[in-house]
Amino acid sequence: MEFENIKGVIFDLDGVISNTSRLHSDAWHQVADKVGTEWTESLSNKLKGVSRMESLELILQASSLESHYNDQQKQELAHDKNKDYLRRVENMTKNDILPGIESFLESLKQNHYGLALASASKNSARVLEKTGLSHYFSEIVDPTKLSKGKPDPEIFATAAKLLRLAPEKCLGIEDAVMGIRSINAANIFSIGIGDKNILNEAGIVFENTELLTLSNIRSHFDKK
Ligand code: G6P
Ligand code: MG
Repeated sequence: MEFENIKGVIFDLDGVISNTSRLHSDAWHQVADKVGTEWTESLSNKLKGVSRMESLELILQASSLESHYNDQQKQELAHDKNKDYLRRVENMTKNDILPGIESFLESLKQNHYGLALASASKNSARVLEKTGLSHYFSEIVDPTKLSKGKPDPEIFATAAKLLRLAPEKCLGIEDAVMGIRSINAANIFSIGIGDKNILNEAGIVFENTELLTLSNIRSHFDKK
C-alpha cells in the first residue's frame, strides 16, 4: 500500500479527538452504581465505541440484570446517563482536545485530505462545537441513519462514500477494538490509538494522539 494513494482520513471522536471517552465512562459509572454492577476497567473498555442502548445492556448483563428492567426503565436509565453526559460536555473547552489532534487536523487540511467523522455518538456535533473543531469536517456520519453499529463496517464505509473516496484511499482512526474491526471490515487501513496489545487487529498502533502525525504514518508505510 502506498501512502501517496491516501486521500481521506476518517476519525472516531470519543478517545481519538476529544477526551470524551472519560466523560462517557464517568457517566456510565454512575449508572453501574445505581443498578448495582461493579465498575471495572474491563467493563469500561467494553463500552468503548458501543451505542448508548447497547452500553446499558452490557452494564446490566455484567450482573445478569437485563431481565430486571423493562424497556421503559431501560430508556429512563439511558436518558439519565445522557443528561449527565451532556452536563459534562457543556463544560468542555478547547482544552479537552487530545494532545496533537488540532495540529494533525490542521496539517491534513493544509495537505487537502478529505476529513470525515464516524462516531456512534448522537452528541458528536455538540462535542465538535464545544471544542471548536467542527470546521475541519466536511462529512459527519449520522448514526441515527445507520442500521448497524461498530464492529459492522457500515459507519466507516458510509464515511468513505460521503468523501467520494474508495475505501483503499482512506485511513480510519479509532481507540476501540469494535471500531478497529469496523474499519478493517470496511477495507480501510486502520490506525489504533492506545495499547497495542488490546488494539492488535489495527494496521498501526500509536500509543497516544501526540504520535499521530503525517510523517509518523508515512514512515510506517515506507517501511513496508
Ligand atoms: C461512542 C462512544 C461510546 C458511546 C457511544 C454513543 O461510540 O465511544 O462510549 O456510548 O458513542 O454515544 P451517545 O452520545 O450517542 O450516547
Ligand atoms: Mg472512541
